[in-house]
Amino acid sequence: MNNILITGGAGFIGSHVVRRFVNKYPQYRIINLDALTYAGNLANLDDIKDKPNYTFVKADICDFETICAVFAQYAIDGVIHLAAESHVDRSIKDPFTFARTNVMGTLSLLQAAKHHWAGDWADKRFYHISTDEVYGALDLDKPEPPAPFGSAFFREDTPYAPHSPYSASKAASDHFVRAFHDTYGLPTIVTNCSNNYGPYQFPEKLIPLFINNICKNKPLPVYGKGENVRDWLYVEDHARAIDLIFHRGRVGDTYNIGGFNEWKNIDIVRLLIRTVDRLLGRTEGTSDHLITYVTDRAGHDLRYAIDSTKLKTELGWEPSLQFEEGIEKTVRWYLEHQEWMENITSGDYEKYYEEMYQNR
Ligand code: NAD
Ligand code: DAU
Repeated sequence: MNNILITGGAGFIGSHVVRRFVNKYPQYRIINLDALTYAGNLANLDDIKDKPNYTFVKADICDFETICAVFAQYAIDGVIHLAAESHVDRSIKDPFTFARTNVMGTLSLLQAAKHHWAGDWADKRFYHISTDEVYGALDLDKPEPPAPFGSAFFREDTPYAPHSPYSASKAASDHFVRAFHDTYGLPTIVTNCSNNYGPYQFPEKLIPLFINNICKNKPLPVYGKGENVRDWLYVEDHARAIDLIFHRGRVGDTYNIGGFNEWKNIDIVRLLIRTVDRLLGRTEGTSDHLITYVTDRAGHDLRYAIDSTKLKTELGWEPSLQFEEGIEKTVRWYLEHQEWMENITSGDYEKYYEEMYQNR
């Protein structure tokens, strides 16, 4: 495989995947295709933008003709598809955009791959990046004795039960990918990953938003009682899993990727406050008063937790970072990249965020 199309490479996870592939595989040509929506930022890739094996194409995945032209021009033989609308709160306000990009955009890529590869599947791959949110929500109580399998965790065979427009659109895209494998034989792989955190995440998501707000002494809007649980994974561990699965995953299969690292939101908020205050030289507890309980997110999933035993057993992947270590690295990165944050949070985003916050 030589020419790899990575969609959504100017976003958070995509930029880590592009960087990894460009640096690690000089023999591959990496084509990063991204529409540069509010979430796409070419500054995320400043360090690799001039590498000879890297090409950027600004395009919308829903634009089928352009996608076909890109397949032909670059003789694409592998796809890693990350482009998506990714924020649950935005999906609640504007579900159409999510259906368009996440469902129709994925379908457009699938059709282009099918058309371009025309039944010659040798050394071809269509790898679709999805989310654990397609499985719905878990209870807080885990069965005793603690079970590695069963209803306490999402497994690859857990039935789909999405609750938000975002997760419904991702679920639909997963179904289309599977259908293209089962119907046409397209060599697909799907992975469903838990919550990522780390550098370059857009500051509408919990961790970068709260780091930024603590720095600026702004309120920290905790939804509901802050008791919802997420399973957190450092973004470079996700990129490493994507690399492994793209090269060694079984065609037609699905893998779950998770951190075995469950945290209640309110405990993360307290950890972030302690870490930011310490690194800024403030007295412990300085920012505790910023915690503000606000109206809960509609349809807020109580708990996500991934069982990634299959990935560990079959391909030997495990998360590499402890959460506290990952948070320390992440907070340091945001403190050292204030300009990156300022560029994003000025202008339109500031207006959007203020409005979002006022409406809670
Ligand atoms: P992100 O919002 O940071 O980035 C999305 C990227 O897609 C942006 O660069 C944006 O410009 C691009 N994009 C959006 N619409 C497009 C279109 N129509 N055509 C071309 N490009 C378009 O998202 P992220 O958090 O990096 O997530 C990437 C993928 O991983 C998504 O598919 C998401 O569902 C999935 N995922 C995310 C997480 C997470 O915790 N962030 C966890 C599991 C899975
Ligand atoms: O599980 C994987 C998913 O994780 C990805 O598919 C999504 O793309 C990604 O956005 C993320 O979804 P979440 O909804 O879990 O992430 P978010 O950062 O928006 O919220 C994390 C938790 O924090 C969630 O329980 C809602 C809560 N929250 C979030 C924000 C933005 C707050 O309490 N206050 C906030 O201001």
